[in-house]
Amino acid sequence: MLNNMLVLGIESSCDETGVALVQTQATGVPTLLAHALHSQIEMHQDFGGVVPELASRDHIRRVLPLTTEVLQASGRSLSEVDVVAYTRGPGLAGALLVGAGVACALGAALGKPVLGVHHLEGHLLSPFLSEDPPEFPFVALLVSGGHTQLMQVDAVGEYAMLGETIDDAAGEAFDKSAKLMGLGYPGGPALARMAESGNPAAYALPRPLLRSDNLDFSFAGLKTAVLVQAQRMVASEAALASGVPAPKAQANHGSSAGFENLPLSQRADLAASTQAAIVEVLVKKSLIALKKTGLKRLVVAGGVGANRMLRQQLNAECAKRSVRVHYPELHLCTDNGAMIAMAAAMRLQSGLQQASTTYAFDVKPRWPLDSI
Ligand code: KG4
Ligand code: ZN
Repeated sequence: MLNNMLVLGIESSCDETGVALVQTQATGVPTLLAHALHSQIEMHQDFGGVVPELASRDHIRRVLPLTTEVLQASGRSLSEVDVVAYTRGPGLAGALLVGAGVACALGAALGKPVLGVHHLEGHLLSPFLSEDPPEFPFVALLVSGGHTQLMQVDAVGEYAMLGETIDDAAGEAFDKSAKLMGLGYPGGPALARMAESGNPAAYALPRPLLRSDNLDFSFAGLKTAVLVQAQRMVASEAALASGVPAPKAQANHGSSAGFENLPLSQRADLAASTQAAIVEVLVKKSLIALKKTGLKRLVVAGGVGANRMLRQQLNAECAKRSVRVHYPELHLCTDNGAMIAMAAAMRLQSGLQQASTTYAFDVKPRWPLDSI
């Protein structure tokens, strides 16, 4: 009964509306038939970050047209859909409610069951959509805008937390550092681009908790260090111009005004040094997790998994240790509907969960992955 089942997935937890259709198979992993995505980045850019109310309203506008697009692209009709899946959390409450509401309304109208999915489980299982899918068990490095976690994954639904950030997430460290460098939102990809021409060893930035053997992360101190360094660079450039010695810089206020007027090479050096600090911590902790668990497979998922330097360093270090590394396809690293449809299909197929015809819904803006 679970073969050739069509699962429609809806993602609306933050600033991307994603819809996708996957089909379960008699053997192997489900296949992706079509997916469509609308990114709200442009809309939020003027505000320097995601505005939750605007995000919810835009999801409402996009979700049904994207659903039509996915059905057309896959040559399927709504009545053929067997299960409607949606992101139940974590994420922005209002944004999640849009996806949940639409999914439950579609399910009720079609007389088909619905299933709420954990957003991070979607990221975690997204490499199964790639041409080189992983096999269980593996260590997962989940690095998104809101989460940084190392997990041991033994099977679908069997997730043991090995370590996580005690403050900011890796994506947040990229975004906040990029913001004070005047790179706008979302900062991760922009900072990575600027870092390409910079020297990663130009500035000594902290590698928090690197020396500790535990697998927790801490990135909040890094952005303060980046801010102090940026202020110091602005002050010495001003001193150079005026001939008056620069005062000692302190992060006494959050402003890095003037940084964007510095020569490109200096800005690129700070971007490269920041990226190097984040990447080194992520790589070293992943290697410790592999050593502690004795596992020979690493899965990297979440938006920061698109980072080229992270991929290069993980590939190099894992090759030395005969560890296989799996990533989602680049375009499925950030939020999308395909990972939600895929996670739902894999949960249903594994018998872990059944879809429900109770169309009352709630969402879970905060929802630890190891509690599902
Ligand atoms: O997984 P995701 O799309 O959304 C959340 O669930 O949070 O991750 C978004 C995060 C943002 O912080 C973004 O800046 C970061 O992923 N990101 C990157 C890159 N592409 C996206 N960070 C560094 N380098 C990139 N190439
Ligand atoms: Zn995400």
